Amino acid sequence: MSVQKEIRRVTTLTLMEMKQRKEKISMLTSYDYSMARLVDAAGVDVILVGDSASNVMAGHETTLPITLDQMIYHASSVVRAARRALVVVDLPFGSYQGNSKEALNSSIRIMKESGAHAVKLEGGSEIGESVKRILTAGIPVMGHLGLTPQSIYKFGTYQVRAREEEEAARLLEDAQLLAESGVFAIVLEKIPATLAAAVAEAVSVPVIGIGAGGQCDGQVLVVHDMLGITEAFSPRFLRRYLNAGELIREAVARYVEDVKGGDFPNSKEQY
Ligand code: KIV
Repeated sequence: MSVQKEIRRVTTLTLMEMKQRKEKISMLTSYDYSMARLVDAAGVDVILVGDSASNVMAGHETTLPITLDQMIYHASSVVRAARRALVVVDLPFGSYQGNSKEALNSSIRIMKESGAHAVKLEGGSEIGESVKRILTAGIPVMGHLGLTPQSIYKFGTYQVRAREEEEAARLLEDAQLLAESGVFAIVLEKIPATLAAAVAEAVSVPVIGIGAGGQCDGQVLVVHDMLGITEAFSPRFLRRYLNAGELIREAVARYVEDVKGGDFPNSKEQY
């Protein structure tokens, strides 16, 4: 008789305990069932159904166009695949900035319709009321500060944020405010490593960096970037673990050649 090993789900509490014992947290994005299955089986702690789906899955230039319905579709596919990882879903642009009631309603839709475990919102003090209202409903919230892509038109550039003292001080204050409000973790995107280290030290919740240096409590990357599927995107912070783009092109080219040459299917590949 084969005994199946019990898989323990990563929870928001697990992440807090990992920070306390200085165990790094691994987080990757996924947007569909097949990729999420692989990512989960490889032992990633948190799967983020990021609104980067707007870029990676739909080919938009920014994260702004993706809708709440589309995020729910991606999230429910990922939830069906993830057996161990905590699944966090981005609230897309336009689904929470209006007011805290809208933010709560969007979060409830994500949780109810996708079965995900938490939501992520971009911003600091300006979304403070929304964060509190979502938390009051029992929905775990992850914060996101620094280069928040939904504000790209306000920034006008994808360059590193908070290099200047004033913006750095504001970011630190925002992180403290989010942590005090009760978020379970904060993503820090593209900020100086020294600032990220100071935030990690200052707040009790895990900070998860992307382009924010090695002193964060965890790291996150977009899975298509680290696998080399989105080949044109190569910022300094990105480490490529595979050239999947090249491998896929080669495989597809061989298939085309086999079909055209009459080599596929052969006698064993037919009925
Ligand atoms: O949408 C996303 O993929 C993200 C990560 C870059 C943190 O928010």
